[in-house]
Amino acid sequence: MSETAGVPNFTEVLHPLVQHKLTRMRMKDTSTASFRDLLREISLLLAYELLRDLPIEEVEIETPVATMMAPKLSGKKVCFVSILRAGDGLLQGLLDLVPSARVGHIGLFRDPVTKLPVEYLCKLPDDLTDRVTVLVDPMLATAGSAIEAVRMVKEAGAQDVRFLALVAAPEGARAFHAAHPDVPVFAAKMDACLDARKYIVPGLGDAGDRLFGTK
Ligand code: PRP
Ligand code: URA
Repeated sequence: MSETAGVPNFTEVLHPLVQHKLTRMRMKDTSTASFRDLLREISLLLAYELLRDLPIEEVEIETPVATMMAPKLSGKKVCFVSILRAGDGLLQGLLDLVPSARVGHIGLFRDPVTKLPVEYLCKLPDDLTDRVTVLVDPMLATAGSAIEAVRMVKEAGAQDVRFLALVAAPEGARAFHAAHPDVPVFAAKMDACLDARKYIVPGLGDAGDRLFGTK
């Protein structure tokens, strides 16, 4: 169900439900409301894979019938960090799965000419060192934004860092691996390439605009 798509720290989640929902998101006539719903649904399925190794411990509980040792999450707490704006489309589903998680926001936009990330916000919890820190952004194009966001959370103390995306370009995935080989990336699909405007091909267009109905 999962493959590396040729980049060591990259995992494609090839589940049929993920791929079906991604196809609907790619279609240019999909409405803003459907795009938003689909992204939230996919976030649950991707997070299932990304958080597969969270540690558990056995605790004693009483059911209405008997006492038993039952598994519960132990140790590490979680922080989700949304890269604005489009990361917010993945965030709500993740919080439904892990309601106790802390949330950080990093505001970055791609300069329309240079395509380099420009920072306008960084609001992170102050205890990242002991948390699994999951950065979320649907699009890994050149990976300039992702590389910078990971640098920022590492600078804030994060040690166990993971990245959740929807679609990636091979150029970006390779650049991300070169910059942060210790950070696993989980995504629904590695697409073909970037175009001259540094958009992912075939991709789904501008994720932020499609999510919020702008432009
Ligand atoms: C998009 C996307 C990523 C970035 C990816 O955001 O959500 O953050 O571009 O491109 P990169 O890999 O080449 O850095 P954008 O800058 O369009 O901002 P927005 O989410 O506010 O629309
Ligand atoms: N940002 C997007 O939203 N889409 C792309 O294809 C590239 C960057």
